[in-house]
Amino acid sequence: MTCVPDATILAALERRLGPKGYISDPAAMAPWLTDWRGRVHGHTAALLSPADVSEVQDIVRLAAASRVALVPQGGNSSMVAGATPPADGSALLLSLRRMKAVRDLSADDNIAVVEAGVVLSDLHLAAETIGRRFPLSLGAKGTATIGGLISTNAGGTQVLRFGTMRALVAGIEAVLPSGERFDGLSALRKDNRGYDLRQLLTGAEGTLGVVTAASLRLVPAIGARAVAWVGLASPHAALRLLRRLEAATGDAIESFEAVPANALAMVLRHIPGTRAPLSGQHDWNILIEATAPLGAPDPVEQLTGLLAAAAGEALVADAVVASSEAQADALWKLRESIAEAERIDGAAAKHDISVPVSDMPDFLIEARAAVEERFAGARVIAFGHLGDGNIHFNVQPPLGIDPKRWLEAEGPRVNAFVHDLVAARSGSLSAEHGIGQLKLAEFARTADPVRLGALRAIKNALDPLGIMNPGKLVPEPAP
Ligand code: MLT
Ligand code: ZN
Repeated sequence: MTCVPDATILAALERRLGPKGYISDPAAMAPWLTDWRGRVHGHTAALLSPADVSEVQDIVRLAAASRVALVPQGGNSSMVAGATPPADGSALLLSLRRMKAVRDLSADDNIAVVEAGVVLSDLHLAAETIGRRFPLSLGAKGTATIGGLISTNAGGTQVLRFGTMRALVAGIEAVLPSGERFDGLSALRKDNRGYDLRQLLTGAEGTLGVVTAASLRLVPAIGARAVAWVGLASPHAALRLLRRLEAATGDAIESFEAVPANALAMVLRHIPGTRAPLSGQHDWNILIEATAPLGAPDPVEQLTGLLAAAAGEALVADAVVASSEAQADALWKLRESIAEAERIDGAAAKHDISVPVSDMPDFLIEARAAVEERFAGARVIAFGHLGDGNIHFNVQPPLGIDPKRWLEAEGPRVNAFVHDLVAARSGSLSAEHGIGQLKLAEFARTADPVRLGALRAIKNALDPLGIMNPGKLVPEPAP
């Protein structure tokens, strides 16, 4: 059990962090106390914003001494309320946003060493300055921070080729729940000293310590890219197209993102400046990005030829390949705005699921029919990372019903129904967003007890006082 922060610890923290690092003004804290989706509202006595690792260490030491819980936070763009403090005010919010130094950029090692508060789009720009690229991207790139991306093992739209954050973290610096600094920043390509703490802290959602910096893998800068929008009849046709493109292009295909007709319509309805990329309507659309290194032939011609051949065989119904960077950005905006359009559209039961890639086309058709039959009038919007077998399988309320009330009444039943369909295909109820608060109950309900036991054992070993982000990721054992 942790303790509510009292006046003594608050005064000690205020003295140590000064006015920039210790914020207790409710108006200044307010934006950081509600999750991105606006579903979970937290409360805290203070927002702690350290400037360097030694301040993080002192915060953790003081918290451990008083048994006060800490909730680490980056850009506050968690999809599962993983960085929102509890409503009872029992925890302090620990923001890493002031720690935003790029400590080193090495073209020889292909490594960037950056602090946890660096925003993803700033890392993209920093890598460009040495002719390199950080190959992970997602819709929230303008706000998501490196610490949060590591702590959630973020995915995004380039996983197909480069993997999730796990594959890109070459080294890590973190403050453990004891207050000790773990210096694992050295970016060794080979290091076989047993349990990999770098991997343990990646995806730990701040429950095992506070990530303060990381060494991240860079790849060569892109010479040219081809971005296409393809209309086709089914996810089965889409997967056949992906495998064909991969066979023809080697590893040039980086993104293969599915956008069903209803998700596209929602974006066009809510996001200013967007327009339909194809003249007709298609049940499924795929956004494809292929890239080529500097000096290699432009991939536009090859992708255009491959899509024309696929259209000749009726695998593709229609397609457009962007003829300028502005057009490519406009196509990407359609894909990257889906989450924002959904947020504007109103509450829905959200699921971030994965099944084996080859099962996904059948799953999409069958699960949608099953949900719409079981919950009369409910509407499925299933979009995302088809090439990774990861779809955001969201269920909207029937038209004319208040979304919030529907979600309160039906949400848990809808979640359980969808997750059971996923489990039947040996899938995961969290492919890329993590567990946070919002998936905790379903994780506890569906997870193998062996998995949960191991998770709790690791948590207890590293954080015996339970001060690091309690109530997230690790379900409490049943009483
Ligand atoms: C996406 O793929 O657009 C994001 O993961 C956001 C979402 O799931 O809504
Ligand atoms: Zn996603």
